[in-house]
Amino acid sequence: MYIAIINGPNLNLLGLREAEIYGNMTYQELLMELTEYADSLGIELKFFQSNHEGALIDFIQSCPGQYNGIIINAGAYTHTSIALLDALSAVALPTVEVHLSNIEEREEFRRRSYLRQACLTTFMGEGLASYQKALHFLSEVLTNDTATKTSTE
Ligand code: DQA
Repeated sequence: MYIAIINGPNLNLLGLREAEIYGNMTYQELLMELTEYADSLGIELKFFQSNHEGALIDFIQSCPGQYNGIIINAGAYTHTSIALLDALSAVALPTVEVHLSNIEEREEFRRRSYLRQACLTTFMGEGLASYQKALHFLSEVLTNDTATKTSTE
């Protein structure tokens, strides 16, 4: 099972940016923790981070046929990007939205997620655990999908 974890703008600055909101873990440490957790679930991860909306869209468009599912933290593009929503809807892979912080308890402008419409569910407000819960959830969904397809063949 192959899952792409996509991170948007400023997530490369984890560990440096607003520790009181996003914690002390660096982006590299986040990737290491997630790789370890994915190993324990038998999942292979591909990480992609960009500060550019178009690069995120290009990567999402390249996912079908390569990955079984997507986990995405689109950072601030979550609240602005219909183009990212369209890309996720177009590729139609099982997708989970994640956020380190609880975007529902912050500024009003963070409460809207354009991406949520293309996602199965959202995990937020738990830092690293938001991503781990998303991985666990997606691995269950994908395992059940495979089991259903095999049993109906
Ligand atoms: C974020 C929340 C967004 O509102 C913010 O712009 C980010 C990070 C989070 O993970 O909590 O860059 O997606």
